[in-house]
Amino acid sequence: MADRTAVITGAGGGMGRAIALRLAVAGIGPILLGRSENKLRRVAEEIAAIGLHAQVCALDLTDDAALADFGAALAEQKVDILVNCAGDWLIATLQDTGNEQLDQIFDINLRAPYILSRALLPNLRRSENASIINIGSIVTTLSAPMVTAYTAAKVGLKGLTGSLAAELKREEIRVVMISPGPADTPMRDAASPGIDKSVLVQPETIADMVYSVVSLPRGVTTSDFALYSMRWD
Ligand SMILES: NC(=O)c1ccc[n+]([C@@H]2O[C@H](COP(=O)([O-])OP(=O)(O)OC[C@H]3O[C@@H](n4cnc5c(N)ncnc54)[C@H](OP(=O)(O)O)[C@@H]3O)[C@@H](O)[C@H]2O)c1
Repeated sequence: MADRTAVITGAGGGMGRAIALRLAVAGIGPILLGRSENKLRRVAEEIAAIGLHAQVCALDLTDDAALADFGAALAEQKVDILVNCAGDWLIATLQDTGNEQLDQIFDINLRAPYILSRALLPNLRRSENASIINIGSIVTTLSAPMVTAYTAAKVGLKGLTGSLAAELKREEIRVVMISPGPADTPMRDAASPGIDKSVLVQPETIADMVYSVVSLPRGVTTSDFALYSMRWD
């Protein structure tokens, strides 16, 4: 895996951080994307401690111009892996969800992965074994109340993943969605304060699965899959 590069969104914490660290341990150079530069720098320091340099790029993934600038800055650099991990959710009834909130949830969970995948496709095409990994959610298969906007966005991401996988099949660029159940991250802390952590999936487990998928031999892929704790009801 020497000389491989991965772009990871939402890399300042939670799953994105765990994925960046896991790939770095395998010698894959990460480019860390997220809004908070401080958080990204802290993760870059953790990666430096294991002997790898991580690039940091603080940007708002819902800002089209920032994504275009990021793509332009990469220029002709090869990218082997894109992990669209950044996401946000909203717990609210349909009635209480305003148009602006709906746009916000769609923009970060669905539109940003679309635009970033498109922006980095020329870079991914330079790889010998490219992967786009989209982090979905168990809500795409197991409906829950009060998350209509988030669910619609993640189901959209599932559709995007399937269609793009079919589109890029001939080029042998794999596109896979991994859909976690409740996981032990800051997002979960905010959504379910006081939750029994023993029913949560650890972000490191999700990161191991990401690494397994991107380590498949060229020309081999897997279907989208869910990853969840059997202790969670
Ligand atoms: N935790 C769960 O139980 C769970 C379950 C199923 C699926 N998921 C999915 O897993 C993924 C990772 O979530 P997580 O649990 O690790 O959440 P997290 O700890 O809240 O991390 C989300 C990351 O996304 C970044 N982000 C959010 N909005 C952004 C924006 N507009 N521009 C740039 N970065 C942005 C945040 O960066 P900043 O901090 O810099 O803003 C943050 O680092 C998400 O797609 C989520 O939907 C989570």
